[in-house]
Amino acid sequence: MLLLITKGVLMMSAINETREMDGKLVKLEQLLSNLWSQYVTESPASLEIYNLFSREGETIINDHIALRTFDDERVNIAKLGSFFEELGYQECGEYHFEVKKLYAKHYEHKYDELQPKIFISQLLTKQFSSFVQGAIKSMVDAIPLQKLSSSDLLFSGALWGELDYTVYQQLLAESEYAAWLYVFGFRANHFTLLVNKLQRFNTIELVNQFVKGHGYPLNSSGGEIKGTSAELLEQSSTMANKVPVKFKQGTFEVLNSYYEFAKRYPMHNGKLYQGFIATSADKIFESTDVKPA
Ligand code: NI
Repeated sequence: MLLLITKGVLMMSAINETREMDGKLVKLEQLLSNLWSQYVTESPASLEIYNLFSREGETIINDHIALRTFDDERVNIAKLGSFFEELGYQECGEYHFEVKKLYAKHYEHKYDELQPKIFISQLLTKQFSSFVQGAIKSMVDAIPLQKLSSSDLLFSGALWGELDYTVYQQLLAESEYAAWLYVFGFRANHFTLLVNKLQRFNTIELVNQFVKGHGYPLNSSGGEIKGTSAELLEQSSTMANKVPVKFKQGTFEVLNSYYEFAKRYPMHNGKLYQGFIATSADKIFESTDVKPA
């Protein structure tokens, strides 16, 4: 009798656990879909490329989604990461980008390996001028409190009112990353297609050829392919597109976002490497760098 009751309780808790997991997956898929919609609205080329692969009969799996933020504890990696932890993710690797003055972590879903990894970087604000530090503090101060406690923050854009082009330019002079965050705020910086899951285009070279063949130039800073099979990760990306942005002084074009492609290789234990390579990512960060020409 006691055994039956215990069994019953265990079964109930197993059912509750499954329900809880299903509920989290529904919320996660909603969140990822909000991030994707916002991303392709401003980077229509990414959706076009996605559709080109779909039309070839490919099913597209995202390798990772990259988010950017500041190291202010109200919005830092730990804060943004906590929204994903609530939905079944855990922290996995950390990365230092000394030249760009960034720190990053990646999160993986605990049991569903088809869910994208979440790569979150933050600007190391204290390494910049007092102007940059002050501007960033005002930006974070302006975020409505209720936004800070909801995962909607992740796709809420720039929450600091009217943009000032002189502030943008001053930020740009010190950090392209800070200037990008000022203009675009909280949103996915890029999505990354997992090449391993494509049937026909299963090498990064085939993907690159296909994408370029349809008229989308690739970022060739440091070569089109960043990383090597020996490093267990190869990545390439399109060039960032320009979008018109409204400032106090008028409308100006600003580089927005790009689409990325990743091919992963197995480690000695046969499992695909899931980390990121700091040097390659440094080059990929340049896809949104503003070039003089
Ligand atoms: Ni990436």
